[in-house]
Amino acid sequence: MSAQPIAAITGLGTSVPSRVVPNSEFEKYLETSDQWIVERTGIRERRIAGPGETLAGLCREASERALQGAGLSAEQLDAIVLGTVTADRRLPATACDLQALLGAKRAAAFDINAACPGWIFSLAVAEGLIASKRATNILAIGAEKLSTITDWNDRSTAVLFGDGAGACIVQPAPGDGRGILSIILGSDGKLADLLYIKGGGSADPISAKVVEERSHFIRMAGREVFKAAVHTMAKACEQAMEKAGVTAEQVDLLIPHQANLRIIEATAKHAQVPMSKVMVNVERYGNTSAASIQLAIDQAVQEGRIREGSLLLLVTFGAGFTWGSAVVRW
Ligand code: ACO
Repeated sequence: MSAQPIAAITGLGTSVPSRVVPNSEFEKYLETSDQWIVERTGIRERRIAGPGETLAGLCREASERALQGAGLSAEQLDAIVLGTVTADRRLPATACDLQALLGAKRAAAFDINAACPGWIFSLAVAEGLIASKRATNILAIGAEKLSTITDWNDRSTAVLFGDGAGACIVQPAPGDGRGILSIILGSDGKLADLLYIKGGGSADPISAKVVEERSHFIRMAGREVFKAAVHTMAKACEQAMEKAGVTAEQVDLLIPHQANLRIIEATAKHAQVPMSKVMVNVERYGNTSAASIQLAIDQAVQEGRIREGSLLLLVTFGAGFTWGSAVVRW
């Protein structure tokens, strides 16, 4: 017996920068190869924002598409919740800049820092705002310009990341069984130092030393993150399905965070979902952190792999560590 959803995703929109960076770009200046990157990650190319392309701008494009899908105007939004670790400015929240760009005058706007699971966390906040009757029309976004915190001289991370935005409208569930059936959120701050940025925060403010040491860029213990990601996402899948009262056989499409094809394959195996029911587009965009699941959903909708009533299992993992999963009847 499935849970009765409180909230539903009623519109979705995504946006990526126009510049495509293929793996061959890295072969020109790093000791790496297209073959290594494809074999170890599945990534073939990513989108990288140019100097004029702001996070708020990417969010605006994605949000306007999501609003259009839901048949809403920006003035009708009650809240804007943006999951990101790459805000345009330290202050204010990029959600506020976005509010102004959209003309969403009535909306309360704020950012959430939950790394790659930022969008699932936003979705959970949106569901909670609806459950508590504080809001009816919510824009929940995950968006990143990871290119701005990537050390382009570090081959172990430079080849992984990309930029993008994915927005959705969350509204009270229509009452026909469609909507968010479960959401699981989790964190383990003890493992924070496996994936972090040391410099540039209030503990070690930006300085010439920070820049010289390049400590304002992401550092990651890849192998450890890999293992933790598989183990944690597999468990989060199980928990979300149990909470929703559904089985792996009933899932129409598993949409995991698009970080690495090998992580996706291992997670699917543990979750007992065959790869024929797994959405993968990491080859096109690399790891776009909080935007990756929405980019995958959008493509799956366009390809006809998601239809009204499809049962989706979403799962993600990132810095913190943080993780999240959800079962959604589309
Ligand atoms: N090109 C060639 N060689 C490389 C590259 C590269 N781009 N990067 C690393 N190597 C080398 C390493 O130096 C190492 O060499 P050594 O054996 O001489 O020391 C060798 O390849 C193997 O390195 P590993 O780190 O063991 O390689 P692995 O198979 O684990 O792949 C990778 C590395 C792709 C980073 C993988 O560990 C991974 O995907 N980790 C998880 C990342 C992730 O999912 N993050 C998601 C959460 S974070 C977020 O989304 C923001």
